[in-house]
Amino acid sequence: MKNMLVTGGCGFIGTNFIRYLLEESDFKGCVVNVDALTYAGNPMNLKEIEQKFTERYAFIQTDICNKADISRIFNDYEIDTICHFAAESHVDRSIAGPDTFIQTNIFGTFNLLELARENQGRIELFHHISTDEVFGSLGKEGYFTEETAYKPNSPYSASKAASDHLVRAYHKTYDLPVTISNCSNNYGPYQFPEKLLPLMILNALEGEPLPVYGDGLNVRDWLYVRDHCTAIWTIMKDGKRGETYNIGGETEMENIRIVEMVCDILDELPASKRDTPRRELIEFVKDRPGHDRRYAIDFTKLTREFGWMPEESLESGIRKTIRWYLDNQVWVDRVRSGEYQTWIKEQYG
Ligand code: NAD
Ligand code: TYD
Repeated sequence: MKNMLVTGGCGFIGTNFIRYLLEESDFKGCVVNVDALTYAGNPMNLKEIEQKFTERYAFIQTDICNKADISRIFNDYEIDTICHFAAESHVDRSIAGPDTFIQTNIFGTFNLLELARENQGRIELFHHISTDEVFGSLGKEGYFTEETAYKPNSPYSASKAASDHLVRAYHKTYDLPVTISNCSNNYGPYQFPEKLLPLMILNALEGEPLPVYGDGLNVRDWLYVRDHCTAIWTIMKDGKRGETYNIGGETEMENIRIVEMVCDILDELPASKRDTPRRELIEFVKDRPGHDRRYAIDFTKLTREFGWMPEESLESGIRKTIRWYLDNQVWVDRVRSGEYQTWIKEQYG
């Protein structure tokens, strides 16, 4: 793995992965980050990386659906490895407008697979990042395993399921060397404040309402983003080609408890003390249509085969995440005000 194409590297997980890869892991090659810079992509996340790794990092703004551009990148950079994060990723947005989800998540993935097939002699690995949401919803008991049947319920999860099937099919049909990972809900630094944790942290800091959907008893498993990055890199290096791996944080929790935890930690920190308890800001609001009740993930395959385990507990991960948002007020202000979109236009046209 010498020349890695990372798609969606200016988003939340892609940013963390590129940082991990270049700053912490044993990867010795170059990274070419391709990102269309949608509302969720913020190239400021990687400005220092661009300055620090001038020989090993390049950023190109383009759409993964643009075959001519991506083909040129494959050739110019002699790409031999693909780590594919780029996607429309927010369930609520997919309910409001599924079109871009179908375009990017399905057609974009197909485009990358076709280009990988055209360059097959050189391609060592196509790693596809997916979600546990493809498996649908669990009752009170049980866990998703790698053998669980797909039953996606939202346009987002259906589009990710379609892309997973394509990746798998390209392995079976064309022998493309692929691996797939399906992970639980990520949280940590650089997450766009539309997802539960950053939204609650920032609203709670500003004394704004904390909207909890339905009865707040939906359950998610929470994976600290750095733990996700170590798992991805482990799979990329050692995973068997053609296989799927589940990644989880072993931290199942009802939404309302997560929100209460955020409130209590913020109330107790000297940097964010407040006169009245933040739990008073919680508002139960109309439920999300088709809201999956419970996700829980069995990642024993990853532990059994490679000894991988998440390092962060839910509380330690949430504390680190809160600390990051408190310490990165400039990032928060720019993202919340939309100022970074202006900066993107100036920098990248
Ligand atoms: P994100 O929304 O923060 O980032 C997505 C990135 O992809 C952005 O930088 C965006 O500009 C880019 N992008 C979107 N459309 C593009 C296109 N057509 N061409 C090129 N770039 C494009 O998402 P994230 O949370 O970092 O998620 C990354 C991946 O992980 C996605 O595939 C997502 O389905 C998967 N995933 C995320 C979670 C989670 O909790 N965040 C959980 C499981 C799986
Ligand atoms: P989200 O972060 O959107 O991730 P996903 O839908 O992919 O699991 O939501 C996590 C959970 O939190 C989900 O059950 C929906 C719920 N939720 C709220 O209750 N309020 C909110 O404002 C948001 C964004 C999510």
